[in-house]
Amino acid sequence: MSRTPTIVRTVPALRRAVDGLRARRATVALVPTMGALHDGHVSLVRVAKRRADKVVVSIFVNPTQFAPTEDFGSYPRTWKSDIAKLAAEKVDLIWHPDAKAMYPDGFSTRVAPEGPAMAGLEDRFRPHFFGGVATVVAKLFAQVRADFAIFGEKDFQQLRVVARMASDLDLGVKVIGSKTVRERDGLAMSSRNVYLSPAERQTAPELYRAMKECARLLRNGTEIEAAMAAGTEMIKRAGFVPDYFELRHADTLAPVSSRDEGPMRILVAAKLGATRLIDNIAI
Ligand code: PAF
Repeated sequence: MSRTPTIVRTVPALRRAVDGLRARRATVALVPTMGALHDGHVSLVRVAKRRADKVVVSIFVNPTQFAPTEDFGSYPRTWKSDIAKLAAEKVDLIWHPDAKAMYPDGFSTRVAPEGPAMAGLEDRFRPHFFGGVATVVAKLFAQVRADFAIFGEKDFQQLRVVARMASDLDLGVKVIGSKTVRERDGLAMSSRNVYLSPAERQTAPELYRAMKECARLLRNGTEIEAAMAAGTEMIKRAGFVPDYFELRHADTLAPVSSRDEGPMRILVAAKLGATRLIDNIAI
């Protein structure tokens, strides 16, 4: 049986534990999570292990990135299985603060990211989200002081926001994006997939299929607007209510008007019943 990694719950205990990991100049990678770990998270841990000598995983369901109408209360919490997965991956340290340790009484600072955080994608539908993410991730970076931090490409705008923030604020951590892990039928792994009913779960991979079809149309020379309209129509017909289905520049997330403007990404967010799914692919 794998040994349970050390679990720390206060900032001073974290500092001592990270100092211990850093003995003999070992490098450290951080994998920030909100728990409910699946194979996508496991792949982030494996990327972290390849990058650095020691791996710290944080588990903190961050209240400040949820709107009052969202699922903070019901967000899946699967502590025992999370710990078993991290033990199997031989993670060195788990940082598991409670809300008081992360946001002590009197806490009154919020990071307000701009640039990719204002691209008109997730921010348009979840205006509270990136401020909450940037604040907690800035804190995680300051607390762990890792050399590397690994984020999934599944939350592509989030990846761009935290990479920009780390660079803008000279936080001394290199942000690394890691490929989206998909189920066999193409559905991107997400902790929120458990919300899908069996019928919705059957439909959910249509999101990926529509993006792939859209990428095929673009590669064959179809106009951007027509290709995006075709993709949007495909997911609507499958039963989704789309928030956006867009082609953006992969680095800046700015809208693009021609295929020659550099690396591109198709990004989509849509509701299937009560569950909101997001996904993206490179083209
Ligand atoms: O992607 C997530 O799980 C969260 O947004 C993160 C980066 C851990 C911040 O709470």
